[in-house]
Amino acid sequence: MIPPFLENAALKGLQCLDAETAHRATILALKSGLMPARRRTDDPRLAVRLWDLTFPNPLGMAAGFDKNGEVPDALLKLGFGYTEAGSVTPRPQPGNPRPRVFRLPADEGVINRYGFNNEGHAALRQRLEARRKQSGIVGINVGANKDAADRIADYVAGITAFADLASYFTVNISSPNTPGLRDLQARSALADLLTAVITARDASTQKLGRKVPVLLKIAPDVADEDLRDIVEEVLAKKVDGLIVSNTTIGREGLSGKGPAQETGGLSGKPLFRKSTIMLARARKLAGPDLPIIGVGGIDSAETAWTKITAGADLLQLYSALVFKGAGLIDEILSGLSAKLDQHGLASLREARDANVDAWASETA
Ligand SMILES: Cc1cc2nc3c(=O)[nH]c(=O)nc-3n(C[C@H](O)[C@H](O)[C@H](O)COP(=O)(O)O)c2cc1C
Repeated sequence: MIPPFLENAALKGLQCLDAETAHRATILALKSGLMPARRRTDDPRLAVRLWDLTFPNPLGMAAGFDKNGEVPDALLKLGFGYTEAGSVTPRPQPGNPRPRVFRLPADEGVINRYGFNNEGHAALRQRLEARRKQSGIVGINVGANKDAADRIADYVAGITAFADLASYFTVNISSPNTPGLRDLQARSALADLLTAVITARDASTQKLGRKVPVLLKIAPDVADEDLRDIVEEVLAKKVDGLIVSNTTIGREGLSGKGPAQETGGLSGKPLFRKSTIMLARARKLAGPDLPIIGVGGIDSAETAWTKITAGADLLQLYSALVFKGAGLIDEILSGLSAKLDQHGLASLREARDANVDAWASETA
């Protein structure tokens, strides 16, 4: 166990490195076991049961941190209730030229234009096969190669490749860094994609006997009428849930300090408001039964609680870890328990949706 002051020193050290090098150093530290294990017994009231899975707590590591599935178990040991590997594409690809990730410390935001740099299906499969017997919920976020002739076929290939290893799947059509990818959010393209993906999942279910849940991850920048189309298609095609949201191409609410005009997707604190409004609107459109993961700007127990009351069943975060370090995980989980005490509730589900109407009617 690393004492907190050393951990803070390590965080400061990481913040002196450029953002991508710091990310790589963190992955290597997690791989080597240098990071502290924080897994304590979770408050049973924080457990969430969805599909055939029991999440020990609602807080997950968002996609993009562990693109190649190098450290799922280390992340679970840090205290996350689940983690999501990827985005992974069928073939390895280098992504965009560096620099391609930028910190905005004054705003506690991050801009990235990685462009799905990853080692491809085969490398991820090999790593996940090696941990097959480990417990813990590991979702797999599938994407399409930049030069794919048929993008839908790339998503189907992802489902087929990992059906026996994924706790759940995320179909990521909302990265702003692969040109044209978000066009798959348009209604007719989305209908074709979801039909193909769910058909592939159902075929694998017949073989393996387990129906792996498939979630769709959407951008926070879709217009209201497009969100309605997306949710209608998700319900019609019996997709198992939504993740709201990916990074934004918007630049609202920034102080203007730091590299705000870099191209890419903005995440962290400046994304909180927009992604929470989108979450609440998605919840209203979807009704109470569709599981939704709320992500975007969670950096405290308060913001985590707000996502739940705005309609989220589960949570994910990424950017706040860059600024606050791994101690944030415990801070959020203890804070959620305190919120349940304060409101006299026995589960997060009882708190869900309390502020959906208010958030849905806000303007970004
Ligand atoms: C550096 C970086 C890389 C990311 N890569 C991916 C990715 O490969 N796939 C994906 O679905 N989302 C990716 N995301 C988006 C996150 O999963 C998350 O949706 C977004 O950052 C909002 O959460 P946050 O504000 O807590 O960071 C990435 C985010 C960051 C900051």
